[in-house]
Amino acid sequence: MTENDRNGFTLWFTGLSGAGKTTIAELVRPELERRGLLVEWLDGDEVREHLSKGLGFSKEGRDTNIDRIGWVASRLTRHGAAVIVSAISPYVEARGKARKMVEQHGTFVEVFVDASVEECARRDVKGLYEKAFRGEIKEFTGVSDPYEPPSSPEVCIESEHEEPHASAARILHVLEERELIPAEVTA
Ligand code: ADX
Repeated sequence: MTENDRNGFTLWFTGLSGAGKTTIAELVRPELERRGLLVEWLDGDEVREHLSKGLGFSKEGRDTNIDRIGWVASRLTRHGAAVIVSAISPYVEARGKARKMVEQHGTFVEVFVDASVEECARRDVKGLYEKAFRGEIKEFTGVSDPYEPPSSPEVCIESEHEEPHASAARILHVLEERELIPAEVTA
């Protein structure tokens, strides 16, 4: 079996904090496992506690974070894993670099989880937007730091208008169509 037969891929969620990346990834993950795939999930918040501990949120800090995540994702993809990444990854160029690294070994599927700053701030799951608006957190994505949306993501999710289960189902469908995961067998 050659490396390419292993069909590894990286499902890369990008979007604002609170847009719904983690919520949707949480629904996709067990489905991939149920279909027999070896799954690894690299979540921004978690990576920043380990691999990227101490890194800040300047452009340089974020680019380094995404570069590290991209590199690990590419190594895992090489071994046939189904890699889920959920990180704001606000810069087009850094995401493009991650894509290039992954595509040396498998498929890169970019999922843009789109939600307005107003909606993310309304949800404010972690209470960070409130602090960002008060200026207590600097360089906060969407408030005082840029987010560059992808121009042609493989999947675009408008999380203000679609339930997380429907978004997860749509992602799984795209993966099936691309023959990255086995189709659901109905009895
Ligand atoms: S990224 O920009 O480098 O891709 P990453 O996804 O790893 O970001 O981390 C984002 C998480 O860090 C957010 O969900 C939030 O919990 C926290 N965070 C803390 N400070 C900031 C900030 N200035 N901008 C965005 N997120 C922040």
